[in-house]
Amino acid sequence: MRKWQGLTVLLLVWLTDGMAAAEDRKDWRKSGTTADKVEQILKTLPSTSHVMLEVGARYQDLYWAGKLGQWDFAAYQVEEIVKLIEMLQISSPKRAATAQVFLDHAVTEFDAALQKKEWETFQHAFGAMRAQCIVCHNSNDHGFIVPPEHPVTAPSVILNLPR
Ligand code: HEC
Repeated sequence: MRKWQGLTVLLLVWLTDGMAAAEDRKDWRKSGTTADKVEQILKTLPSTSHVMLEVGARYQDLYWAGKLGQWDFAAYQVEEIVKLIEMLQISSPKRAATAQVFLDHAVTEFDAALQKKEWETFQHAFGAMRAQCIVCHNSNDHGFIVPPEHPVTAPSVILNLPR
């Protein structure tokens, strides 16, 4: 009797090991060739719309950081928007040229505005950025996407606004 029990345990161990190995073979991250891995990773790169959801949220946060006088947080949002657009140039090469137009023109006024720490000047810089968001949407056949001039709220918990 003991002997049979021992054999059953062995058989079970062997079967589950085999199943795990089969699972591993299906999991390209563990067992794919380098070419497979690159191919799969490329498919998981964020699309423009994914990147834009974050850009849109940071755009709202930027506006309200300025409005509430949280100038360092505003500067941080500008940096993060720039980094996202630079990332988009890599993940979506067909947007690279129009993204560069944005990088060259959208944030030029912020340095001065954030040093002045003044809502009026900040609003002007924000308006200049918004104009470039619109330019890029137009050049990419998405002119119907128009970011608001005065976002009514912002998502960051740091700003603690009602949603
Ligand atoms: C490189 C050009 C480019 C720039 C710069 C750009 N956008 Fe976009 N945006 C797009 C494109 C293209 C789409 C449509 C997404 C798609 O086709 O996958 C889009 C879509 C969006 C969307 C809709 C996302 C969704 O799926 O609901 C928002 C919001 C948005 N952009 C906000 C902004 C804001 C705010 C700025 C400026 C701070 C900006 N975008 C700058 C190209 C750009």
